[in-house]
Amino acid sequence: MAKTWWKEAVCYQVYPRSFQDSNGDGVGDIKGVTQRLDYLKDLGIDVIWLSPVYQSPNDDNGYDISDYQAIMSEFGTMDDFDELLREVHARGMKLIMDLVINHSSDEHAWFIESRSSRKNDKRDWYIWRDGKDGGPPNNWESIFSGPAWEYDIETDQYYMHIFSTKQPDLNWENFEVRDALHNMVNWWLDKGIDGFRVDAISHIKKTEGFPDMPNPDRHQVVPCFPHMMNVKGIEVFLSELKKKTFDNYDIMTVGEANGVRIEEADEWVGEEKGYFNMIFQFEHLGLWNKNGDKQVDVRALKETLTKWQQGLEGRGWNALFFENHDQARSVSTWGNDKEYWKESAKMLGALYFFMKGTPYIYQGQEIGMTNVKFPSIEDYDDVGMRNFYYIETANGRSHEEIMNIIWSQGRDNSRTPMQWDSSPNAGFSANGSTWFGVNPNYPQINVEHQLQDPTSIYHFYKQMIALRKQEPVLQYGRYDIHFREHPSIYTYTRELEDTRALIICNFSEEVQTLPTPVGHLREGDYLRLANYDVSDKGIPQDFVLQPYEVRVYVFPKHS
Ligand code: GLC
Ligand code: CA
Repeated sequence: MAKTWWKEAVCYQVYPRSFQDSNGDGVGDIKGVTQRLDYLKDLGIDVIWLSPVYQSPNDDNGYDISDYQAIMSEFGTMDDFDELLREVHARGMKLIMDLVINHSSDEHAWFIESRSSRKNDKRDWYIWRDGKDGGPPNNWESIFSGPAWEYDIETDQYYMHIFSTKQPDLNWENFEVRDALHNMVNWWLDKGIDGFRVDAISHIKKTEGFPDMPNPDRHQVVPCFPHMMNVKGIEVFLSELKKKTFDNYDIMTVGEANGVRIEEADEWVGEEKGYFNMIFQFEHLGLWNKNGDKQVDVRALKETLTKWQQGLEGRGWNALFFENHDQARSVSTWGNDKEYWKESAKMLGALYFFMKGTPYIYQGQEIGMTNVKFPSIEDYDDVGMRNFYYIETANGRSHEEIMNIIWSQGRDNSRTPMQWDSSPNAGFSANGSTWFGVNPNYPQINVEHQLQDPTSIYHFYKQMIALRKQEPVLQYGRYDIHFREHPSIYTYTRELEDTRALIICNFSEEVQTLPTPVGHLREGDYLRLANYDVSDKGIPQDFVLQPYEVRVYVFPKHS
């Protein structure tokens, strides 16, 4: 496989609203990101993925864009952005932006025109339909709960919104829309940014004729959104997008590809003709026990991740991640954020970080930030979760029951401000009131503490990044799984020419023993990373692994 910079990179996602407030108004901003670049550089980051900073009324925190070529005033100015880009490049790092083109804001000039009359030139830039039997055109549901259609009284039609009512879907069938989007994408690329994370891109095509969903009672239950996710015909739009924009630049692209299956990998991320360099797939994220009893299905996790690792071998490239701004915190979800907070956060890090693909770290993951538990729905911000709360309350579910879901799965878990130090507001903002609550555990969990503690989660991440860069086997080596049937150990190897690596993870709170999957290597300094003290640096005949223990070995193949 060809070597490229983005295969060797480690990416870090910044959610700017919660990263660093530079001017004390309680909202993170672009200058705040610039101020923290040395921190990211020192950690070893190569590429920063910046969540949206475009002009937006913030119904969905910037994922509802009202002007693609302007910066949200709360975040700063275009000059601030240009300065950020220069400073990122000056440190030898790269910057990719979020590209949100399945929908715009309802406050975008295009939509304002489109909604103004049925005869307007831009009417067809969005998806407008007549109602049916006194209700919406069909039974499709929004990913944020409730119908996927909103009635517009002025023109007596409905517009489609897969996400919130303030995020009308653009009509990709209209070539003028595609043209306008291509021009905008090229405008940013000409500015010198280094690529895009492409939002919700598997939703841009809808089934022709807009037929009802098959299961009218619970539309969101499997099969999930069959008429608005990865619908046949999407390939035309994606190939065109690639050809008219991405192909003409040395950039990286990562598509958010909900619903794309490994069988479609060649089209989506194939080395030769894939629409993107890599995609985020989400199959592994559903594999934890949502009842909160912490029983992760380790076997299912192995099956899913291994399917993607082996399925893309020699064909395409994976994007590796456990966290982003839409997921609850990994240490709370998959690990134990109390007794084994440190151990489990490190184990989870190493588990995904050394697979084949480009690893992504979400802000705060590198210090083991945890989920949060605010008492009232009024303490929460996420439009998706708030809709869910009000709709489920109307359906008769109790406050406790709904809040339990929000506490364990809500997207706001990962959107609390970054915990920099133990000063008020965790060093995120000088303001008394921040846009969203700070997790009360910041005096214990923060960057400043962890910089000083060589055994911290932060230092473990820093070592992981350095190790991945030192050892080509960890970048380009083939992935193989071992002990596939074991219920609580996840162990895999990587192999490249004469070098092998072994990653062995105890995904449980019990001591586990396991024979070596790669042979006994008595002599040698092969242990490169561990989260417990291990005196023997060779590979033992039998492993005795403590709760959430992880070890990473790199060794010669024929020793
Ligand atoms: C993606 C984003 C999410 C956003 C949605 C709509 O899934 O990651 O945060 O709400 O798209 O743009
Ligand atoms: Ca600010």
